[in-house]
Amino acid sequence: MKKLTGKLLLLLGLSALPFMGLAQSAKTTASAAPVSAIPAVTLANGVKMPVLGFGTFTLKGEVGEKSVAAALSLGYRLVDTAAIYGNEEAVGAAIKKSGIDRASIFITTKLWESHSGYENAKKAFEVSLKKLGVDYVDLYLIHWPRGDIKGSWKAMEELYEAGKIRAIGVSNFEPEQLAELMKTARIKPMVNQIESHPFFQQQKAQEANEKLGIQVQAWSPFAQGRNGLFTNPVLAAIAKKHNKTVAQVTLKWLVQRGIATIPRTSERAEMQENLGIFDFELDAADMKKIAGLDTNTSLFSEWRRK
Ligand SMILES: NC(=O)c1ccc[n+]([C@@H]2O[C@H](COP(=O)([O-])OP(=O)(O)OC[C@H]3O[C@@H](n4cnc5c(N)ncnc54)[C@H](OP(=O)(O)O)[C@@H]3O)[C@@H](O)[C@H]2O)c1
Repeated sequence: MKKLTGKLLLLLGLSALPFMGLAQSAKTTASAAPVSAIPAVTLANGVKMPVLGFGTFTLKGEVGEKSVAAALSLGYRLVDTAAIYGNEEAVGAAIKKSGIDRASIFITTKLWESHSGYENAKKAFEVSLKKLGVDYVDLYLIHWPRGDIKGSWKAMEELYEAGKIRAIGVSNFEPEQLAELMKTARIKPMVNQIESHPFFQQQKAQEANEKLGIQVQAWSPFAQGRNGLFTNPVLAAIAKKHNKTVAQVTLKWLVQRGIATIPRTSERAEMQENLGIFDFELDAADMKKIAGLDTNTSLFSEWRRK
C-alpha cells in the first residue's frame, strides 16, 4: 500500500503537478525509497522554481548523461548546469531522451566570466542553447561577479524580454555587488546562487538577498563532504532522532530556511535519498544546533579569487 501511494504521488508529480507544492508523501525511513513531488518557490516574476534540484558539476559525458537521466526518472525536475562544466550537451541529451515534456523541466545554466560583456554574453547564451538542444532556458545566471557585469546583465535583460530566458539571476554576488548591479539594472536578479551549507551558512547574505526580493539557492549544500559533513556528530544525532540521514537533514535545514538547493551525486540511491526530505520537519532546537555549526568562512576559498 505504501509503495502504491508512493507510485501514485510520483505519477502526479510527473504529469499533472510539475513543481507544485505537494509536500506530503508516504512516510518513509532513511533507507526506504522516498517518493514525493518537489515543492516550488515562486520567484519575483512569478516563475515557479523547484526548491530542490539536481547539481551536475563534474558530471560530464556519459556519466553526466546517465546521472541526469537517473535523476529525472526519480522525479527531479530542475537540472543545474553551466557552460564551464562542459556538460550542457550531456544534460540536453538526457533531457531529450527522457521524453518528459520540456515545460516540466527547469533548466539552469550559467555565463562564464571569459564571455562577459554585452556581445559575448549574447553569443555565449546561443552556444549554451545549442548545446542543450532547447530554445529557451528557465534560469540564466552570471556565474561569478567578474568581467563586464553591466554588459552581461544588459544582454540577459534583453534575452529575458525576448522570451529566451524565463528568469535571470546571478551567482556568488556579495550584497555590495548586488547593490552595484542594481544601480544600472532595469530588471532585478531573481535568484542568487551562493555557497551555503552548515559550515558556511550565509545568514547575512540571505537577509540581504531576501530584502531585495532575490531567491537564494545554495550550491555545495554538502560542502562536497568537506569538514567531515557526512559524519558530523551534531548532524548525525539530529538525523537519528528523525530516522533520516545527515544528507536529508542538511537539505531539509536549507529548505526550512527558505533556501532552494541543488545537491549533486552520481549514485542513484543517493539521488533518491536526497529527495526524501518532504515528509519530516526539523524543530527549533534542531535548527539552533545546526546554526551553531557555522564557521562563517567559505570552504571554497580557492574559487573566490578576485
Ligand atoms: N554557482 C557556483 O559557483 C557553483 C559552485 C559549486 C557548485 N555549484 C552547483 O551546485 C551543485 C552542488 O554542489 P557540489 O556538486 O559542489 O557539491 P555537493 O552537492 O555539496 O556535494 C557533492 C558530493 O556529495 C556526495 N553526496 C551526494 N549525496 C549524498 C548522500 N546522500 N550521501 C552521501 N554522499 C552524498 C556526492 O558523492 P557521490 O557523487 O559519490 O555520490 C558528491 O561527492 C553542483 O553540482 C553545481 O551544479 C555551483
